[in-house]
Amino acid sequence: MIIAIDGPAASGKGTLARRLAAHFGLRHLDTGLTYRAVAAALLAQGLPLGDEAIAVEIARRLDLSHMDRALLSAHETGEAASRIAVLPALREELVRLQRAFAKAPPGAVLDGRDIGTVVCPDAGVKLYVTAAPEARAKRRTAEMLSQGKEADFASVLEDLKRRDERDQSRTVAPLRQAADAHLLDTTEMDIETAFRAAVDIVTAARAS
Ligand code: CDP
Ligand code: CDP
Repeated sequence: MIIAIDGPAASGKGTLARRLAAHFGLRHLDTGLTYRAVAAALLAQGLPLGDEAIAVEIARRLDLSHMDRALLSAHETGEAASRIAVLPALREELVRLQRAFAKAPPGAVLDGRDIGTVVCPDAGVKLYVTAAPEARAKRRTAEMLSQGKEADFASVLEDLKRRDERDQSRTVAPLRQAADAHLLDTTEMDIETAFRAAVDIVTAARAS
């Protein structure tokens, strides 16, 4: 059983993926972390974000267990991750790692941008989670403030829109809804309502 979840930043896909995995007894991989880990390593060593060979080398030696959570979740790391995510050879390397994770028993929930389209096109269930940019910026701002980080709504909104644009317009594995993905628009939903809707979609798909 593989559940593929895609969507833009702060749509709620990570929270849903984690909770669905717990609910259905599956493993969970936030594939954004793999891009963030490579980005964090490049930033920490002062290496260029556009050098594909260096990025691939770092991806080959990736060890998520040694990564600092705060560094991985930093706003700058997300921004750098979306910059290096345009490099085809880097994506190839990370997709290899993500597929290996997905295929190991008893199955998994993966969330990202290209899970239903590229990483796991044969997934048993695909969800495309989205929400209006303003709703997503509001959530991301609240999340940052609750973690004691500085955040103002207008600049968070601007950053989200810029990242969406970059993720949707790149030529390799752009963010888009797979033809067979269920659309879950959470603009008017709190996370509990969204979770129940997601469970219903997965349960129905498993029964058919
Ligand atoms: O993984 P992604 O960036 O798509 O989003 P997330 O990290 O799951 O969610 C971002 C923030 O929005 C978290 O603090 C969630 O609890 C919150 N959220 C919400 O308030 N309502 C939703 N329907 C979905 C997420
Ligand atoms: O949590 P949030 O949605 O802010 O970002 P993330 O999921 O951690 O992803 C960071 C960046 O990595 C995204 O903006 C994408 O450019 C890239 N990414 C990707 O290209 N493909 C994936 N499967 C996951 C992330």
